[in-house]
Amino acid sequence: MDKLLITGNGPLKGEVRISGAKNAALPSLAATILASEEVHLTNMPMVRDINTMCALLGELGFGVKKGNEEVFVFGAGISSHIAPYQLVKTMRASILTLGPLLARLGRARVSLPGGCAIGERPVDQHLKALEKMGAEIVIEHGYIDARVSRLKGADILFDTVTVTGTENIMMAATLAEGTTSLFNAAMEPEIVDLAELLNKMGARIEGQGTQHIVIHGVERLHGAEHHIIPDRIETGTYVCAAAITRGHVAITGARPLHLRKFLETMENARLPFEAGADTIEVKPHEGLLARDIETQPHPGFPTDMQAQYMAVMTQAKGRSLITETIFENRFMHVGELNRMGAHIKIQGHTAITTGITPLSGAQVMATDLRASASLVVAALVADGDTLIDRIYHLDRGYHRLEEKLGRINALVRRVE
Ligand code: EPU
Repeated sequence: MDKLLITGNGPLKGEVRISGAKNAALPSLAATILASEEVHLTNMPMVRDINTMCALLGELGFGVKKGNEEVFVFGAGISSHIAPYQLVKTMRASILTLGPLLARLGRARVSLPGGCAIGERPVDQHLKALEKMGAEIVIEHGYIDARVSRLKGADILFDTVTVTGTENIMMAATLAEGTTSLFNAAMEPEIVDLAELLNKMGARIEGQGTQHIVIHGVERLHGAEHHIIPDRIETGTYVCAAAITRGHVAITGARPLHLRKFLETMENARLPFEAGADTIEVKPHEGLLARDIETQPHPGFPTDMQAQYMAVMTQAKGRSLITETIFENRFMHVGELNRMGAHIKIQGHTAITTGITPLSGAQVMATDLRASASLVVAALVADGDTLIDRIYHLDRGYHRLEEKLGRINALVRRVE
């Protein structure tokens, strides 16, 4: 199994280009199920989760051609309505095939994703909404079995804000009879991006980016071409990498507007940077200050940045309270950061980090995608070598991580 060997090497410097957003690319691939014509997606981050979703589309009978940061999906040959356990177990986002399969074929059998390292993560909101739209759903043998002749538009009030839940139902509703209104919808930029792709395919969606999305059902969707938005979490991760090393890094191809709350927090922590329309230039700082955060759905502080931010806070002066409100078990990086010399205590849903503590390289274990990223960030300032095990988690979501970090002065090597 591959490991990542990182040796602290002083400030990062240079330029790093951000890839397309994994969490926008995944629903976009699922959306291709809705069309019988070719969909061409560009700015695709060719990470492991994207390969998994492409494999899943292949399993359903779609022609999938992968290029350099682009994917073509040919939707004419759909031959199966089953998303099998073998693929779903490696990637929870496979649940995004449920809505589109049901809308296009009237039938879907998708393995239940089950719990995962960061929490229980049920899909009850997805199922409740589809049932309200007329689907008959049976859960048996670990599978969700859903059938309907044609979905019907409905008013859906989500009990909790759910990103993939909003995406799943928005996709399903594009081919439903009549109008669907989603209340308490998620407002993440990835949802806006997905709605834009669907509208290019002939859907009639309004209100994306607000809590109230309205989808007027149409008879069919056609092919389209779409450029995926930049990855805001990859962007934030490089901001953290630059900040923790007191580096000077120009981050290009980004969309700073999509991570306003995170950038505002870094500014309050005294990180000097300049943000343009698609760039962020992080400048060397003269000492960071501890700042409290609480994760919230967009436009709040993203849970996907919590772990990397915590790594930075180990090098900020004072005590920071980091409260996780989205997932019940997303502090697995704490033990590993403490093994590297951090001083972090968990009290309920809050992690209290006291800085500044020098970090020292150690053998550590990646437990999920963003926890792994926080260990990478910490390793960049640790004294000596850090060996990060189980980096398949990182490969799920960070495009060319070693190459990108290597170009900005980090010493990073993949070892067997
Ligand atoms: N929830 C329910 N019932 C549901 C759906 C969600 O109770 O039917 C709960 C979840 O258990 C969680 C909360 O609602 O406590 C929010 O979960 P959400 O459904 O929004 O998460 P998700 O859609 O499964 C996406 C991202 C995650 C990101 C979260 C929150 C994708 C493919 N995944 O997950 O990304 O953390 O939204 O922003 O878009 C990552 O990239 O590392 C990652 C985990």
